[in-house]
Amino acid sequence: MSRMHTLERVGSPGLYLVDFLPILMYLPEWLAPFKQQAKKLHEIESSYFYSLFREAEDKYRNAIAEDPPSFARQWLSKDDGYGLTWKEACYVVATLYGGGSGTTSLTMQNYCLAVCHFPEWQERLHDEVEKVVGPGRVPEFTDWGQLPLVRAFAKELLRWRPVVPSNLPHRAVKSDVYQGYYIPKGSLVWGNQWGMHRNEAMYPNGDSFCPDRWLRPEYPATYKEPNEQQPTIRRYSAFGFGRRICPGYEIAERALFIQIASLAWACRICKKIKDGKEVEVPWYKYVSAGNSGPEPFEFDTEPYGENRIAMMKEAWKRSEV
Ligand code: HEM
Repeated sequence: MSRMHTLERVGSPGLYLVDFLPILMYLPEWLAPFKQQAKKLHEIESSYFYSLFREAEDKYRNAIAEDPPSFARQWLSKDDGYGLTWKEACYVVATLYGGGSGTTSLTMQNYCLAVCHFPEWQERLHDEVEKVVGPGRVPEFTDWGQLPLVRAFAKELLRWRPVVPSNLPHRAVKSDVYQGYYIPKGSLVWGNQWGMHRNEAMYPNGDSFCPDRWLRPEYPATYKEPNEQQPTIRRYSAFGFGRRICPGYEIAERALFIQIASLAWACRICKKIKDGKEVEVPWYKYVSAGNSGPEPFEFDTEPYGENRIAMMKEAWKRSEV
């Protein structure tokens, strides 16, 4: 994860002067500290990616079963290797891992923060999950259609605290005019998710965490039917725009669904009590990076029943097979 966080940090908009003055790219390496740093980081990153890929190769050669097959195995078992070189394949696979691990876990960190600040929503969420799943089993993907509030939670978390608040930069492929502004061909364009997600016309009272905006007709700009299918995060601004839209959003949708449903089923997350006093949970104290989540904060967990944690651990073990 620390390697991913480095990547997220160095990808922050405008962290390096060369982002604004591309001519600096022509400086020789000994005169350009950003090039020296990039080289070092690339070595650390690539050796990590290559070692993970070699592990997958060993498993493949020794015919160790994988169910479902990993992304690496998909490449290894394809005769033409999709026309990719070994290094390209390592990077394709590792980029999927890198793109998905930090973003999903940051969203779940935002979950912990949101339910500390909005405990009433956590109670509603738990009630929904409890009604559908009950105490005898853990939530499953097949519960999807019956848990609209779980899906609304995921969507609202991504709106309230987008994990890629300024998106990734895109380059204008042709000149354009937007609201009177001339955008020359080749300009870098940042899709400001944070700003879009606080557009009052679309998301009234945008600083407030309100999954109802995806579930109730009183919010006509965001509400959609039928609620066995809606809300969904397909084509959602939190995953970017156009041809470079996040290719992992379907995995993200499922991952967030099962993690939110499982947490809401297993335990209440709440503010910690120390010496008889609530420990303050910051409203907005975030790590400064392109992909951003809350700085560490203290909270407590209270299991909803004695055996729920054991059942979750059991489900975790089964999923590792
Ligand atoms: C909550 C989870 C996630 C969020 C919020 C998220 C968000 C984003 C965003 C905003 C972009 C930039 C899109 C653009 O340039 O317009 C992106 C790109 C990308 N994401 Fe995700 N993502 C998530 C999960 C995943 C997962 C699970 C995977 C892979 C399994 C993934 C793989 C990628 C890749 C490879 C790119 C680069 C695509 C490209 O540049 O063509 N992401 N993601």
